[in-house]
Amino acid sequence: MTHAEAPAKIILLGEHAVVYGRPAIAVPLPTLRARAEVEEVRGAAPGSVRLEAPDIGFYAWLHEAPPRHPLARIVDLTLQALAVVDFPPIRLRVTSAIPPASGLGSSAAVSVAVVRALAAHFRRPLTAEEQSRLAFEVEKIHHGTPSGVDNTVVAFEQPVYFRRGQPPEPFRLGGRLHLVVADTGVRASTAEAVGRVRQAWREDPERFEALFDAIGQAVESARGLLERGLVQDLGPLMDHNQELLEALGVSSPEIERLVLAAREAGALGAKLSGGGLGGNIIALTEPEAQEAVARALQGAGAARVLPVEIAP
Ligand code: PMV
Repeated sequence: MTHAEAPAKIILLGEHAVVYGRPAIAVPLPTLRARAEVEEVRGAAPGSVRLEAPDIGFYAWLHEAPPRHPLARIVDLTLQALAVVDFPPIRLRVTSAIPPASGLGSSAAVSVAVVRALAAHFRRPLTAEEQSRLAFEVEKIHHGTPSGVDNTVVAFEQPVYFRRGQPPEPFRLGGRLHLVVADTGVRASTAEAVGRVRQAWREDPERFEALFDAIGQAVESARGLLERGLVQDLGPLMDHNQELLEALGVSSPEIERLVLAAREAGALGAKLSGGGLGGNIIALTEPEAQEAVARALQGAGAARVLPVEIAP
């Protein structure tokens, strides 16, 4: 049996504006992962692939699965990229600890884990760029105009400064980040959030372009701080980014309740992460305040609270 994994991700700053060409910064969450296992099976025709995703109750042979099912699509694309045909039949089993539809890049992580497991099984390693490119094709199923930030950070497994259509710039953090990721418990569709922003942007392009510019400026400032390890100064930028996301219309009362609870408990800054309308918030803390912020978020009704430390 061969297996491979890929991490969840958070967007530190820049979501939504990144769809409109501004930069974003995202980091992997190494402790929250998707996993794919591949093994040969007997009794099926050469080239057959049995797909199993117990978390979502999906079991199918690849040739019978809907071609636009994300799992079928990533397997198809990867087999094409690896140029393998008529191989002994295999079973591909996917599991994930990453909650779906909550801004943590669950779909990109599943895709990259599948790509890696198949590449390992067929002993044809693929670069992070190739993994990212394949996962990007599946992101398009989830919403029509993905920026590519999710698949990039998940495949590179490093903090990245990302701008749509440009080569990603992985970079080294100058210090540790202590974050608390907290789930509103509200599942939210990235496609819907992206669609709402697009509609509002069409109605008032000038105002929205200015909001995107302001988000882009926060991202530029944040990059320098992150590289120099000046983590404290990042907090106000995250708060500012949250305000701008509220102005874009992708926040929610549940998000704002958690953000406020984190700040009141001493977080340096807090904001939604990902598509918004629900999903997760992230709070940046001093190391010694991390536990108190996590407790406060639990007390404020978070469905799940995950303290994380991101090391350089
Ligand atoms: O909700 P997530 O984790 O898929 O993050 C989406 C980030 C957006 O900027 C809202 C969309 C995109 O394609 O970049």
